Amino acid sequence: MNRTVVISGGGTGIGRTIASRFAIHGDRVLIIGRRADVLHKAAEYIASSGASRDLHSRRVEVAAVDLTQPDQVQSFVDDRFPVETAVDVLVNAAGSGGPPEGTSLSEVAAAWEQTLRANVLTAVLLTTALEPRLRRPGGRVINFSSIAALRGGGTAYAAAKAALHGWSYTLAGAFGPEGITVNVIAPGFIDSTELFGDTMTDERRQRLITGTLVGRAGHPDDVAAAVDYLAPPEASYITGQVLQINGGALLGR
Ligand SMILES: NC(=O)c1ccc[n+]([C@@H]2O[C@H](COP(=O)([O-])OP(=O)(O)OC[C@H]3O[C@@H](n4cnc5c(N)ncnc54)[C@H](OP(=O)(O)O)[C@@H]3O)[C@@H](O)[C@H]2O)c1
Repeated sequence: MNRTVVISGGGTGIGRTIASRFAIHGDRVLIIGRRADVLHKAAEYIASSGASRDLHSRRVEVAAVDLTQPDQVQSFVDDRFPVETAVDVLVNAAGSGGPPEGTSLSEVAAAWEQTLRANVLTAVLLTTALEPRLRRPGGRVINFSSIAALRGGGTAYAAAKAALHGWSYTLAGAFGPEGITVNVIAPGFIDSTELFGDTMTDERRQRLITGTLVGRAGHPDDVAAAVDYLAPPEASYITGQVLQINGGALLGR
């Protein structure tokens, strides 16, 4: 395919796997994160994996942008996306579990601000800046929430991810008449990412796995498959939805 795909958080974990899948399809893929070295390594990794090596290396671009900074986001869009460019798929996967909250009110305030900025503002600023470039009809916006938004888990993190749901519903309403869909993917425990840092103990990992119905951790490929499902033209009737990918750790909703 020949789509233009923008993936925030595309340098690591789930975002990197999603980027790889689009590159395999032959799309132009642009990955965003704050660390240029990580992004370049991801682009090399994607280019050197899979069968269509030449195709990959032509198609993966990187942009080191702190998506919580309005000026950086606007410059990025102005530089990389001239007015005539159309963005087919925007995946807002950038996020962070946030720091420990501490006990004093100023520590709590700082932790909440950082977590809300990392998980909500990143998606809001990038989507707002790219909104005029989204393909009409046919554009896709895919936001990344979490099982924590639905059942708790982390305080500021759960709240930040839940905030994305309400915002996504509003966007789906605004963009629907223009043929752009907006959906949310809410993963459960997904291994092989940087999200948990050094907070993941063997005991916690085992507890999360035991909590699934399938008896295993999720893999970024499990989540990328859901993006593959939401992105093509055939998915134009799916909008305003929250799609859970959690091995049955939370049922229904
Ligand atoms: N892994 C799971 O079990 C799980 C479960 C539920 C939901 N999720 C969600 O899935 C999404 C992908 O996470 P992941 O699991 O793949 O974790 P990850 O490996 O930590 O990926 C998060 C990415 O976001 C980028 N990022 C963070 N803040 C940013 C900022 N201000 N500007 C630009 N980029 C920023 C990071 O790159 P830099 O540090 O270089 O900026 C990193 O590449 C996240 O939204 C996460 O909350 C994950």
